Amino acid sequence: MARVTFSIDEAAARLRAGDIVGMPTETVYGLAASVRDERALRRVFEVKKRPFFDPLIVHAASTEEARSMVRSWPRAAAALAERFWPGPLTLVLPKAPDVDPMITAGLDTVGVRVPARAEARRLIELAGAPLAAPSANRFGRTSPTAAQHVLDEFPGEDFLVLDAGPCDVGVESTVVAPSDRDGGADVAILRPGGVTAEEIEAALASMGGLVTVSRRTSAASPGHLEHHYQPDVPLFIIPEHLGSDRLALLRRLTKWKHSSRIAEVELDGDPAVAARKLYGDLRRLSAEGAQILVVKRDKSHFGGLWDAVWDRLSRAATASLTDEGNC
Ligand code: TXA
Ligand code: MG
Repeated sequence: MARVTFSIDEAAARLRAGDIVGMPTETVYGLAASVRDERALRRVFEVKKRPFFDPLIVHAASTEEARSMVRSWPRAAAALAERFWPGPLTLVLPKAPDVDPMITAGLDTVGVRVPARAEARRLIELAGAPLAAPSANRFGRTSPTAAQHVLDEFPGEDFLVLDAGPCDVGVESTVVAPSDRDGGADVAILRPGGVTAEEIEAALASMGGLVTVSRRTSAASPGHLEHHYQPDVPLFIIPEHLGSDRLALLRRLTKWKHSSRIAEVELDGDPAVAARKLYGDLRRLSAEGAQILVVKRDKSHFGGLWDAVWDRLSRAATASLTDEGNC
């Protein structure tokens, strides 16, 4: 059975011995394997039931170590690493020749980041190699933001989870592909996350030249599927203009689903707090017996960290309700 430890030494020894380990980061908990251990890397995919076409993010203890995984380092990447590492930003860059193709799903690029959690960086140092780690949840399900969530996800598996308390950010890192262009930069956001588009633009403004920051379609990030991050019970999004007549709407929902156990996911007005609480609330409400979850989309929920929160909610949702109450 999976079990928790508070000892970084013990967790690192397991990694050196070829095991996988639950790793705390500031975003969500990861399921880590040494980048040099192909058997452990394979086990990460098997335990998660993750398809091999979905590449893993490599976690490094320093910018220098992250750079050893890539074969080019555009000025835009340097500027972003300087500003946001350690922190919740993943850079997708051409991979170094010796990076295991299992990590990159055969792509010519690799995603790298330096996590902000000191425990994570220490674990990487003591493991003696960068750690490839997807979020520590069964494929397609809600990510874990506490060590207990990881245990709950994998009741039948035998590995250690390093417990460093709850995650501060609560949603995954922002995944970007940066490149240089005419003295400026092009940055494609493949997945919104803990660093916002506005922060990225501001960080690159001083580069000089034209800077473009764009959202790319999900196809550019193989694992960024339309349905993902899903809780155990159906989740429905209620657009704000339907919110005033919520009770009638909920009754309609009840009739539709023959269920009276409806729980609302309450989002804090501060997107940083909303992000931190989101995954834990989805888990808690379904564990408490809710059969349907609903979440109201407020018209103020745009820009900044709301982009990441609503990206996850819309992928986690079964449907968004229309005026007619259809789905
Ligand atoms: O915050 C995070 O990023 C967490 C913590 C554990 O670091 N990790 C995480 O990993 O969310 P995962 O595997 O659940 O999501 C990684 C995302 C996937 O959508 C994957 O397709 C994308 O990053 N990705 C990884 N490498 C890529 C690459 N070379 N090109 C495009 N997308 C890539
Ligand atoms: Mg994930």
